[in-house]
Amino acid sequence: MRSRVKKGLLISALLLAGLGAAGCGREGEGLSAAGQGETSAAGRLITVGFSQLGSESDWRIANSESFVNTFTRENGYDLLLENAQQKQENQLKAIRKFVLQDVDYIVVAPIVESGWDSALQEAKNAGIPVILADRMVDADESLYTCYVGGNFVKEGEEAGRWLENYLKEQGRSEETINIVTLQGTPGASAAIGRTEGFANILEEHDNWNMLDMRNGEFTQAKGEEEMEDLLAAYEDIDVVVCQNDNMAFGAVDAIHAAGKTCGPKGDIVIISFDAVKAAFDYMIEGTIHVDFECNPLHGPRVAEIIQELEAGKTVDKIQYVDETYFDYTMDLEKLKEGRTY
Ligand code: AHR
Repeated sequence: MRSRVKKGLLISALLLAGLGAAGCGREGEGLSAAGQGETSAAGRLITVGFSQLGSESDWRIANSESFVNTFTRENGYDLLLENAQQKQENQLKAIRKFVLQDVDYIVVAPIVESGWDSALQEAKNAGIPVILADRMVDADESLYTCYVGGNFVKEGEEAGRWLENYLKEQGRSEETINIVTLQGTPGASAAIGRTEGFANILEEHDNWNMLDMRNGEFTQAKGEEEMEDLLAAYEDIDVVVCQNDNMAFGAVDAIHAAGKTCGPKGDIVIISFDAVKAAFDYMIEGTIHVDFECNPLHGPRVAEIIQELEAGKTVDKIQYVDETYFDYTMDLEKLKEGRTY
């Protein structure tokens, strides 16, 4: 399973890295489908500069593909995609470049929450609306038009509630429960929110011990490395909270390599976030207990926002996406069938 996930991720990452490289300046037109595009009501293509933060996970690949597939010339757009390769400085440069190119809209998936004020101010001064997709910024709300993405605090709280119920069902409510967390990129909304949400439920339980929290960078390799280390440091880990699927895949590998078991028939409870298609295979084989969905298909949502703005409408400042969860008690084969990412 491990090699299948890694191979799929690698192919898509190479594909999107290539697309990102092609997405510099007007060369970005190479991203759009070939052929004559339909034009907007104003009689021209709408130019969208998208600063994507990287290609670290299955989720991120699906997110990038969603933009590329939505913002086509046929749909009336000229997409300029810049992949920042996990560096905020590249995202800041991309925003400034989009301003110089005088794009119609800027979309940013911000790697971390802080440090955006001056770049966003420059976009505002140029009169270019900025849409935040996936992650939030810690900046004055007048500097961006709106946010569309997951409610990460809610995701973390729901994960905590799920664990509470699971332990109750297992007759383990009073047991000491040792927990470790593989966190995502420090300072990223998804890491901050999921940590805060889970902590809100943890503080209601004196018998839950958060032994350690490690930065797994939202990647499979770092997740595996940190999990190896945690298993060496702590003898009795009951629960691993993995803040995305790729870190969970790495954690499962590390647990097996250490001669331990996880999942509903094993010893360690694995909680994950994202619910990408590959994670369903892990739940079906019984190595991940539960997965809290984070929907990456933001392309159509952002397009809808742009169309509303084009029509002169105002849009809601914060637009959370509906999300659910999947666990080992459900008909996972059936639920997996409908998933596109
Ligand atoms: O911001 C969303 C998170 O970023 C997803 O959970 C993760 O997989 C991605 O890298």
